[in-house]
Amino acid sequence: MSFNQFTIEAMQKRQSVRTFDTENITDAHLNIINDYRINDENLVGPFGSKGRIEFIPVTNNVSDKGIKLGTYGFIKNPQGYLVGIAENSKYPLVEFAYTFQKLVILLTQMSIGTCWMGGTFNRNSFEKEIQLGEGEFIPCITPIGYPNQKQRVFDKALRYVVKADNKKSWDKLFFDSSFDVPLNKENAGRLETPIEMVRLGPSASNKQPWRLLLSSDRKVCHFYIEHTPNYSSKLGYDMQLLDMGIAMGQFELACKEVEIEGSWVLENPNIHLPNEHIEYIVSWNSNR
Ligand SMILES: Cc1cc2nc3c(=O)[nH]c(=O)nc-3n(C[C@H](O)[C@H](O)[C@H](O)COP(=O)(O)O)c2cc1C
Repeated sequence: MSFNQFTIEAMQKRQSVRTFDTENITDAHLNIINDYRINDENLVGPFGSKGRIEFIPVTNNVSDKGIKLGTYGFIKNPQGYLVGIAENSKYPLVEFAYTFQKLVILLTQMSIGTCWMGGTFNRNSFEKEIQLGEGEFIPCITPIGYPNQKQRVFDKALRYVVKADNKKSWDKLFFDSSFDVPLNKENAGRLETPIEMVRLGPSASNKQPWRLLLSSDRKVCHFYIEHTPNYSSKLGYDMQLLDMGIAMGQFELACKEVEIEGSWVLENPNIHLPNEHIEYIVSWNSNR
């Protein structure tokens, strides 16, 4: 099983789900998930980094090994967790998130709810469950299950606190040839939809650190991160790098659907940056 053709629709309707139904995930869906996550092709990023995705089924948040997998009350009735495993350095994290987000969209297409989590879970309990190799760590997990239509008050409050429904507008995120000129949606050419999918993606605390710069010929799109200072330093890794991989995953899926060919390249245009928090990450080049 691979994606059906409607990934854009799935990206538009995806929302983090923190309250699940008690219904088990069907065997058919579990088979799709397992086939997907063990296939090396789905785990390699555009620059060759490869992570892992493990599945842990749970009953009342306890695994088959009897380990209680804690999420500090953030997640209710998950049927299992997908656990991301990667190397803790820049491109491996970006590329891992790119692969993980594609799985999130596939799950959304199956009406399975997800919630990217980098912070509010007990890493120790997950590490007990998973065999980590040398140099591996857990950058993120997601609970999975069918969404409970009735959100808890907690979920609504959390969405309010992180302003989850407050997605930044185009002029705050996207730029036209230089960071001095905001990109006009109507003027973005064929990459309009892929760029819009970046805007709709999930990000840690909904900080939306993506800054995209579109070239004047509309063929090259440079991806930058605007770091939130000290955002996840206590956790020992830069969680916002995951947001960049998510943006790449969303962008590429949309390009596939609207039939724009291209590839990921490292071609820093060395353009003047408006502040010291902005860092170049990657470019999409539709010329190649
Ligand atoms: C890298 C990453 C880490 C996240 N970590 C957490 C987390 O630890 N706990 C949590 O409840 N939500 C977490 N989220 C979910 C975000 O809060 C959510 O994506 C954001 O508020 C936007 O809402 P949406 O996903 O419904 O569009 C994380 C999201 C990302 C992308």
